[in-house]
Amino acid sequence: MHQAKLTLDPAFKVAPVSRRTFGSFVEHLGRCVYTGIYEPGHPGADDDGFRRDVLDLTRELGVSTVRYPGGNFVSGYRWEDGVGPVAERPRRLDLAWHSTETNEVGVDEFVRWCGKAGVEPMMAVNLGTRGIAEALDLLEYCNHPSGTALSDLRAANGAKEPHGIRMWCLGNEMDGPWQTGHKTAREYGRLAAETARAMRMLDPGLELVACGSSSSGMPTFGAWEAEVLEETYELVDYISCHAYYEEKEGDLGSFLASSADMQYFISSVVATADHVGARLKSRKKINISFDEWNVWYLSRFQNAEPRQDWPVAPPLLEDHYHLADAVAFGGLLITLLRNSDRVPAASLAQLVNVIAPIMTEPGGRAWRQTTFHPFAQASRHAAGDVLRVEPVSPSYETKAYGEVPLLEAVATHAEAGGTTLFAVNRATDAPLSLEIDARALGGVRVVEATTLSDPDVYARNTADDPTRVVPRPNPGVEADPLRVLLPPVSWNVIRLA
Ligand code: AHR
Repeated sequence: MHQAKLTLDPAFKVAPVSRRTFGSFVEHLGRCVYTGIYEPGHPGADDDGFRRDVLDLTRELGVSTVRYPGGNFVSGYRWEDGVGPVAERPRRLDLAWHSTETNEVGVDEFVRWCGKAGVEPMMAVNLGTRGIAEALDLLEYCNHPSGTALSDLRAANGAKEPHGIRMWCLGNEMDGPWQTGHKTAREYGRLAAETARAMRMLDPGLELVACGSSSSGMPTFGAWEAEVLEETYELVDYISCHAYYEEKEGDLGSFLASSADMQYFISSVVATADHVGARLKSRKKINISFDEWNVWYLSRFQNAEPRQDWPVAPPLLEDHYHLADAVAFGGLLITLLRNSDRVPAASLAQLVNVIAPIMTEPGGRAWRQTTFHPFAQASRHAAGDVLRVEPVSPSYETKAYGEVPLLEAVATHAEAGGTTLFAVNRATDAPLSLEIDARALGGVRVVEATTLSDPDVYARNTADDPTRVVPRPNPGVEADPLRVLLPPVSWNVIRLA
């Protein structure tokens, strides 16, 4: 048995919990839109063709913002194809995912879906094959009240009220050679700056995200952020980070420590942004929008035979997550929360079917993947302020990240709502006995302690067995001193009042 300790003290504040930490992402990719959020022929579809089961699960997941329509897809997208009478919308080739896009769903349908799901839309503009004029047109279509060609067109298409979209991404992964219209940092930085300047002339209240690196392993990582921010510093609010993790070559120990890379990524981007700010003599701080993060078995996708055909909504990137994936995922979520002072926005990529917490069968059932649970619990119970917890934990040696602590943890504290501790035990060989020093909170009692664990770390949920891996009450709680036993390879939530 391993032993660790941490301290809960409301004075150890990081920042208020940001609801936008719990954002997600819907891309026109595979079955995320078609047979994901939208399936008019489904027995449970509503009058707009949206799947009610997916809407219910999205609400249960506790998603705040949803980024749209890509991802790599956006870099070839013509938004005008997706508005107006559906029967007249063109079918187009989507080069990013070698698919055919029918355009049955476009911006108006997406915003209507967001209203039903109770989420805030976050829009990306195409800076791959398009530029300033098209970004301005989309912004005018979405946000201008009325009396111009494009705002009146929106009203004629059924959306009288402006969509009022506040958060906009200036392109997607423009550092990636796979991106249609890939650019150097300087080329992209200039285009992003001029697009941002023009968009702010139209709507000064926007929050704008410049593209950062597609991963911390990109050859241009660091230099990319510096050059892009030199061009855009006073014109944008966020720089993006994207990161995906997978278990490679059976190295479970490194995989469970994936958040070590996320922490390095965040710290490096914050340092780079602040360095550029200092050189520009600016008092402004650029924050991070971590607008793609997840576990993704990318190497399986990269090693698959390239497609020769152009199917409509093929099953793509449909990873089936197991317990260990959910635990690595929990570590990433804890890391995002712990950095809430500089990472106030994030998007879990993606929402449905495509590397997603929610899976569906076309015409059939929908279910929660293992990763659904850490996200839903954190979104439901994180409240008030994020607290550092100063863990003292044994560590283990990983191939990818060197020495990493067995325990990963963060807490939130709300005067009225109590204190919640989120903790991951990365140990594969034994439980971890966690002693919690809660003296600074006065007298506390455990309201609820749950654990997501399983004797088989590769256990999954399926349509036939959707509750194989779910949070269950943790029987290992002791009072005075407060101690909780965290099973090996587990995600844990401990709520105190
Ligand atoms: O989320 C899947 C893909 O990952 C996105 O389209 C792209 O931005 C990233 O490379």
